[in-house]
Amino acid sequence: MGTIPFDSTIALLREGYPFIASRCDAAGTDLLTTRLMLRRVTLLRGAEAAQMFYDGRHLTRQGAMPVMVQHLLQDEGSVQSLDGAAHRRRKRLFLSLMGVGAMDRLSALYESEWDRALTRLHGSGRVRLDHLSRIVLTRAALRWCGIVLDSVDVPRLTRELSLMIDEVARPGPPNWYARWRRRGTEAWAAGVVEQVRSGDLTPPPHSALAVLAGHAEDGAVLPPQIAGVELLNLLRPLLAVSRFIEFAAVALVRHPQWREEFAAGEEADLEPFVQEVRRFFPFFPVVPGRVRVPFRFQGHDLRVGDWAILDLYGTCHDPRAFPDPDSFRPERFRGWSWQEDPFTHIAQGAGRHEDDHRCPGEWSTVALLKQAVRLLCRDELEVPPQDLSIRLDRFPAAPRSGVVLAGL
Ligand code: HEM
Repeated sequence: MGTIPFDSTIALLREGYPFIASRCDAAGTDLLTTRLMLRRVTLLRGAEAAQMFYDGRHLTRQGAMPVMVQHLLQDEGSVQSLDGAAHRRRKRLFLSLMGVGAMDRLSALYESEWDRALTRLHGSGRVRLDHLSRIVLTRAALRWCGIVLDSVDVPRLTRELSLMIDEVARPGPPNWYARWRRRGTEAWAAGVVEQVRSGDLTPPPHSALAVLAGHAEDGAVLPPQIAGVELLNLLRPLLAVSRFIEFAAVALVRHPQWREEFAAGEEADLEPFVQEVRRFFPFFPVVPGRVRVPFRFQGHDLRVGDWAILDLYGTCHDPRAFPDPDSFRPERFRGWSWQEDPFTHIAQGAGRHEDDHRCPGEWSTVALLKQAVRLLCRDELEVPPQDLSIRLDRFPAAPRSGVVLAGL
């Protein structure tokens, strides 16, 4: 086991994403204990730890997230705050929305909104990809959910969803402001659900909005606030895919051979490429949990209530699973499937989706990324010289320039 400094919060903030893995490497272990914000915590990384963390038995998310993070991301009453049978039931609702047809529709909506946005921007010279893709994604996500665009102030909603992502790790006023704005967004989402139930809105029968509004647990539909929170649990992370799209654009600039291949319509490696984008670039750094049942792991006793943190980024860069992990090599994902290997490529959680908290949005993330890469290559937009560096000591990390595109 590694050393136990009194408190590692400052070191974590200073070093960012590589903090846990570099400590584990130095101590030759996958488990360390320290304190964060003065609270004792067990830090874990690697496939074995991911398997334990995501087996649906050992940990709960309740009381594990700092309040400032939880209230901006999943919030109370959401699928992520549930355990056991209640969690599995709610999770099935999300997974039922992610079928092949629904993913094709999402990709098609992304393309139609991307084309619309580029037509409107024609002649404007340049645009930041992060700004562009957020609007495109919000519009595509609303339509995919079954919400009529005319009924929504889309730029405003885009700003509100963006705040939930951008301000998640900034303590103090920016976070309070984002949380205050989120209350308004939650009220809007609950109102949309109520309008469906009262018959004032009629979304298409199998759309996410229709399914959410009609979903019943123990014979009763979800309270409108909870259904609204879950609606935001679709809209917010769909917008967050914009960060992966920026990273994909950076990868295409750094490795132009992939751009040439995809522009020529050769798509055999498109899926491996987007899987490597998800593995390689820094996004969701860690996942916290609290121990539900006492157990021993790698010679260390964890007691009920103990705080544990799994390193997603470090596990995705573990050389035991990914040789030469700091090289961008899509080839490593040829023939790969998460079903055969659910504990190594864990950018969006590990294990089986239905058993634990692994992200139900993985299929939509991959579908949108593939479509975004296709369109970036098809449209041959220029990427003028700019600072595309990505600082690993910032949460959430981003290309510094926001990826400016020119030639519009
Ligand atoms: C943008 C890229 C995304 C990243 C990096 C990401 C990351 C994650 C991670 C790490 C978790 C697991 C949290 C935990 O174990 O407690 C998670 C859960 C979740 N994600 Fe995603 N996600 C993304 C996209 C999406 C999308 C597009 C959707 C919806 C369409 C989505 C919906 C959810 C939901 C509802 C959960 C909670 C699942 C549960 O508690 O069982 N995510 N996500």
